Amino acid sequence: MNRKARILRRLIPSLLVAGMIILSSCEKYSWVKGEVPEDLVISFSQNIYPFCSGCHRSWSTERTYDNLFENTDIITPASSRILSIHSSITAFGSQMIQIDTVLISAPDMIKLWASQGAPSN
Ligand code: HEC
Repeated sequence: MNRKARILRRLIPSLLVAGMIILSSCEKYSWVKGEVPEDLVISFSQNIYPFCSGCHRSWSTERTYDNLFENTDIITPASSRILSIHSSITAFGSQMIQIDTVLISAPDMIKLWASQGAPSN
């Protein structure tokens, strides 16, 4: 076996161990999609607006709120028009948002916000 291969054989296990240590230090975040705590409060200005403005850069906070509120069904959030408007935009539905220590998909964040009465908080 040549020298390079020997060095690699020693290096790879230690890299794996280092990688596992780094990953396990993130354990306070739930990277897998799990149960969303019932008491998780969605803030329009802190959680939703930054997400919307990632694409709708020219919209003010007020304009974004009005557009979202107009297209949101508070009684049955899952059928909100805002979700169907964006259903063909892959980056919208697959984007994960971190709120406190919870990772939630953008559509779930909007549904939860709607079920909380869609406040301008
Ligand atoms: C990943 C990019 C992206 C994100 C994030 C996004 N949008 Fe959009 N949005 C678009 C695109 C692209 C269109 C145009 C879609 C079409 O007309 O088919 C659109 C269209 C709209 C429309 C209808 C057209 C209009 O100009 O009034 C509204 C309302 C809207 N978005 C609101 C929002 C709100 C509120 C949020 C945050 C919850 C949001 N969008 C987040 C990309 C995005």
